[in-house]
Amino acid sequence: MKENSQFKSIKIIDSGKAIKCIQKDGNTIRYHADWLRDNALDSETRDTNNGQRLINPSDFINNTYIQSVSLNNLGKNIALIFTPDQKKINFSSSWLLKNAYDKKRKDTSGWINSNLKLWNNNCLKKIPIIDYQTAKSNQDRLVSWLSLLNTYGFAKMKGCKIESKALLDVANLFGYVRETNYGKFFNVKSEINAINLAYTNLGLSPHTDNPYRDPVPTMQILFCLENSVRGGDSIVIDGFYAAQLLQKQNLHFFKLLTKYSAHFEFKEKEKVHLKSSRPLIELSPTKEIITIRFNNRSMAPITDVPYKEMINYYKAYILFSKIINNPAMAIKFKLKPGECFIVDNTRVLHARTAYSSKGSRWLQGCYVDKDGLLSTISKIKK
Ligand code: FE2
Repeated sequence: MKENSQFKSIKIIDSGKAIKCIQKDGNTIRYHADWLRDNALDSETRDTNNGQRLINPSDFINNTYIQSVSLNNLGKNIALIFTPDQKKINFSSSWLLKNAYDKKRKDTSGWINSNLKLWNNNCLKKIPIIDYQTAKSNQDRLVSWLSLLNTYGFAKMKGCKIESKALLDVANLFGYVRETNYGKFFNVKSEINAINLAYTNLGLSPHTDNPYRDPVPTMQILFCLENSVRGGDSIVIDGFYAAQLLQKQNLHFFKLLTKYSAHFEFKEKEKVHLKSSRPLIELSPTKEIITIRFNNRSMAPITDVPYKEMINYYKAYILFSKIINNPAMAIKFKLKPGECFIVDNTRVLHARTAYSSKGSRWLQGCYVDKDGLLSTISKIKK
């Protein structure tokens, strides 16, 4: 154990509603009585089998005080006694430090998680790519590639079977398919009287998929079965980087796109009518950028923005679109049969160039829940 994961001294503060721990380097960390009681690790508080909590907040909140606290085992453990029930709880110092919350917070609006790396076509020189058979047979290589997929929100795979539904095998490597009204997967090829512009040979400007769903699909796989047309290139853009550039160029515009909900809608005759209202740039309660929604095809009239703000809201929307459509932001490639790319649809926009009617282009797409990706990375790393 590192010396600094031990406490030098400890004392009760705030009339028993908290403790103050002093580390060997002099730093102090406080913990509230309610928090300590709620997070006790003993068998009356946590099921020994599955680790799930057995107590309810109503059992103790507002009525819990620390009667005594002591350091044991050279500062590696602390022992607490609570009133009014004389409950005894022990914690290791290292557990408390790992779960500390008395620390400096980022106070900037629009910060980006440090696990992620932002990119444009200049700084992402090497697209994360893996061969399907390698991913299937080598867990270490698979998790390295999945970690890069999470870091960049984008990765490619090659060497897949060139047959319909092979994209579901790719999905099974890290998660579970999210079925929608388009089915478990959908075909992307030009059709007559297409229900969606994606099913034509027109170019598609950068977008995230299905912002009209709530929740929005998180990971998307686009898998190539045929691509002998002229054109039909795939393009990806880092939406988080675009949002950060908007923030730097015009903070007021950035705030407008995070403050007000846009509306999105998709109708298919009598079959579906999907609607959602969310900001183009969504922040978490800690002001972290967590989701980009951008899709001119399915944007419905915006009605949440007050009249006096609408003129600037549109200026902000236009500037964000210009940043996204700047060629310097885009990575462009042409998928070959048996290749696919995967994007984090909450972050990375995709697009495609128009293609000729000569030849054939057949892609299949599906959505996979991102929690499966994160779970697979976490469980294999352990
Ligand atoms: Fe799309």
